[in-house]
Amino acid sequence: MPVPVLSSAPALGAPATVLACLVSGGDAPRPARGVANVLRAAGAPAEEVLVAHLGRAPAAGRAGSVLEVPVPEGALRRVLLVGTGDGGSAAMRRAGAAVGRATRADTGPLAVAGLGGVSGEAVRAFAEGLALAAYAVPKAGAARARPLEVTLVGAYPEALRRAEVTAGAVHLARDLANTPSSTKSPQWLAEQAVAAAASAGLRVRVRDEHELADEGFGGILAVGSGSVRPPRLVELGYSPGGRVPHLVLIGKGITFDSGGISLKPAESMVAMKTDMAGAGAVLAVLAALPRLGIRARVTGLLACAENMPSGSAMRPSDVIRHYGGRTSEVLNTDAEGRLVLADALAYADARLRPDAMIDIATLTGAVSIALGRRDAALFATRDALARALERAGEASGERVWRMPFVEDYRPAVDSDVADLSNVAAKPARFSAGTILAALFLREFAGDRPWAHLDIAGTGRSDADTDELTRGATGYGVRLLLRWLESLRV
Ligand code: BES
Ligand code: MN
Ligand code: ZN
Repeated sequence: MPVPVLSSAPALGAPATVLACLVSGGDAPRPARGVANVLRAAGAPAEEVLVAHLGRAPAAGRAGSVLEVPVPEGALRRVLLVGTGDGGSAAMRRAGAAVGRATRADTGPLAVAGLGGVSGEAVRAFAEGLALAAYAVPKAGAARARPLEVTLVGAYPEALRRAEVTAGAVHLARDLANTPSSTKSPQWLAEQAVAAAASAGLRVRVRDEHELADEGFGGILAVGSGSVRPPRLVELGYSPGGRVPHLVLIGKGITFDSGGISLKPAESMVAMKTDMAGAGAVLAVLAALPRLGIRARVTGLLACAENMPSGSAMRPSDVIRHYGGRTSEVLNTDAEGRLVLADALAYADARLRPDAMIDIATLTGAVSIALGRRDAALFATRDALARALERAGEASGERVWRMPFVEDYRPAVDSDVADLSNVAAKPARFSAGTILAALFLREFAGDRPWAHLDIAGTGRSDADTDELTRGATGYGVRLLLRWLESLRV
């Protein structure tokens, strides 16, 4: 399902085939204010009839509850009463998601009544929830459905526009991560970035394996060395002009993570086509910036490689030389994400010299043990950056939880033969795999304001829940766009 087309109208003009009518929360759920006219225009049962139905369903006001009301023969096929709970952003996002999910099989136009007078924030949350839950994974060989047309009566138009741009970016990130690795090589991912840059008007440069070698990107090259499909580093640029801060977003772009010579067990390998979800999120964010009028110069770096075992693959105990000259001992070839990110961070620090940089990566299985599947781990070297990201997480629905750089654990990534080792020589002595990965990365961030997002838990969902759909979630797109929108310069 492509992104639904969202439009606002003061009143319902064209007939709808599905009408979603918002319902207040509490013990006595009622249709939202001002829906009577829409009901009449849609040929729906009158408000009193809906009130009678609600009287028999006291839970119908719960956020995300959907009560379907029978309708007489006619153009209007379905009327859904949708609970909005306390009406806050989280409740409205859930309500929107319930509508998006309940109408996935519907092709005719959808109308939503009850958004008049609702705040822009709540409208945006509702509309994003709707558009995100309507996502369907592209099926090989099947044609894509037409976009669902949604009229949100009385809704604040700018909130809808931002929701549509944001949801479109999330759909793109999900599509990229859901693409099978038979299609998705590092070169393919770079080509997607080039195409997106062309339509969004961004600058783009792709470094191939020869350029990576000339410039000393030893981490990206080592990780990609086992694959017949060579690595790429993509650099995307958005510049609005004027005196604005320069920010760098870095995405882990492992197009398939077999583990390499430290091969993963069969079951844990299946999900690893999504190991480029960080890079996909960065690509989708960059492509959305012009339409959101972001007031910052933003550079996106996608560190793309395929981690495969072969006669040319890096070996456990190899020593590699990162961009800028620092060396790592590779004790486990499955800890490959930090190796490609180290190059990108060192390059950004030395060459791009940004005001802040954020990397986003499906980095450690351990993060799901610590935080589960809805909160990403956040590490930050500045409190102000951490707080801004926490706020963006609350507003966008993509939550983060700040984690500590535990200094006592720093010796875990020391090495006898190189500057660093990519995993602890005795993992059981430290555990805390998510923190060790962050401590490793910190060595490459210089003194810059830097944040690291570990999205190994949040990047995929095992089920359709709320605004998430099974498979890739596009996590990070909403968070990072909100963060960028919140910059006031
Ligand atoms: N891509 C994986 C992390 C991952 C695990 C992402 C599960 C999504 C779901 C990463 O490259 C990896 O293999 N990490 C290892 C690190 C270990 C070798 C220190 C892990 O988490 O087991
Ligand atoms: Mn790995
Ligand atoms: Zn990986």
